[in-house]
Amino acid sequence: MASQSIPGPSSIVESFKSAKALITEPCGALDALAAAHGPTTQVSIGPVRLVIIGDAAHVAELLAADSAAFRWGRVARTLTIVIGKTSMIVSDGDDHRRRRSLAQPAFAKRRLDSWASRIVDETDRLIEETMGTENQREVDLHDLHRKLIRRISVRVLFGDELRARADEIGECIEPAMQYAGQPALRQTPHPFPYTARARAKKARKDVDGLLDSIIAERRSTTAEHDSDSLVDALIHAEHEGHHLDDAEIRDQIITLIGAGYDTTSAVLSWTIARSALHETAWHTLRDEAQLHIDTAAATANLKLMPYATATVDEALRLHPAGPFSPREVVRDVTIGEYTIRKGSVIAYSPHLMGRDPRIWPNALDFEPVRFLSTNPDIETQRRTAWIPFGRGSRSCIGFALAQMQLTLVTARLAQRLDVTITNGRLPNPSGLIVTRPEGGLPATIRRFDAKQAPRLN
Ligand code: HEM
Repeated sequence: MASQSIPGPSSIVESFKSAKALITEPCGALDALAAAHGPTTQVSIGPVRLVIIGDAAHVAELLAADSAAFRWGRVARTLTIVIGKTSMIVSDGDDHRRRRSLAQPAFAKRRLDSWASRIVDETDRLIEETMGTENQREVDLHDLHRKLIRRISVRVLFGDELRARADEIGECIEPAMQYAGQPALRQTPHPFPYTARARAKKARKDVDGLLDSIIAERRSTTAEHDSDSLVDALIHAEHEGHHLDDAEIRDQIITLIGAGYDTTSAVLSWTIARSALHETAWHTLRDEAQLHIDTAAATANLKLMPYATATVDEALRLHPAGPFSPREVVRDVTIGEYTIRKGSVIAYSPHLMGRDPRIWPNALDFEPVRFLSTNPDIETQRRTAWIPFGRGSRSCIGFALAQMQLTLVTARLAQRLDVTITNGRLPNPSGLIVTRPEGGLPATIRRFDAKQAPRLN
């Protein structure tokens, strides 16, 4: 079949408007482009072509295509001052395969299981620290979620010995993370001091110093099998006779923190906001958690918490961490009826797929029970159109950790707190790389004590 031209804005003025909107307000811009031209569209300005794939069948073809037709290094190159030149995110070809294969075993199920109790433990620590002796507080929940996910990330990366230094390590990394979260245009290289770029470079240098001492100390004292931490797993990783050198280990550590921290905390905020604003979700989460998370979290088991799992899946459907995931096309590829030309940037959009009304009934409603269905058609639908972590050779390496954190933290918060979202409405989305709640998530939180205040059904 002859290739068709990809629909999209036809005039240069419309293309500029769409490109600007995609940078400043990506979710709204994606919705507008899909409404006007369909879920798969192209925005071209001169030789620069951005192809957005939001149609589930097209995305399936894209993610099954030969990865040699794409390159990741250049689209993500502005991130290298933070994540480093050897990060798997900016690696291509054999380098990518080797680094990813070496990091992958660090996420083995045995290690994940050992983190469950730490996730609940950190959630409890944050609740106690925030509430103090009070029963009620006005807070920015998004700020608290960021702090919590940062602590959990540092703890699973570095192990319990460095728990006391989690805030110090997190704060050291923070300026670099803030910088990496900005639009690419604001990350244009320049040599000027006292700027966000200079602060990010300094932060990365400080973190390198810290990591060097941790790696040296770990090499001299810890055998891999003695520790559940990701750092130890990376230090001792071996794949087909290859190892990661110290620079590669440092870059993968920063990558894992960077890729996991903003994404997971943003999705956590959307999950909590949606559940607290829903008629029954918060209490259903609480009832389930009461049965399955004991105080020591020894029995925290996601399989026993289907409603919490469904709640997180539903939040990820409506609020995937990133509005799109881009790669550069290095040779012409065919997707459905379209030829995507070499030199284009192609990005699939979990945001558009998760809201496609042809696939999801009442697509914009938050309804966790849709993920509890045992209907095989719905299962298939979920497999094709629910894609917040991508799929294939570049899919999210930390997806199981992210899902575990989101599920356990959501369940534990529902078990221990009542949450009232200020103004009673969902915040607007903002952010190009990660979609965060604009202006944070102001809320009133109250301690919930099940013994004193039993809920009457
Ligand atoms: C809710 C949380 C998260 C979401 C929604 C998410 C989503 C994604 C997506 C969509 C990709 C890109 C896939 C592609 O380009 O096709 C990705 C890649 C990646 N993610 Fe995540 N992620 C999350 C949390 C995490 C966590 C916790 C970690 C690590 C601890 C992590 C580490 C990575 C890495 C290293 C990559 C690059 C993989 C590669 O290039 O091979 N992510 N993630």
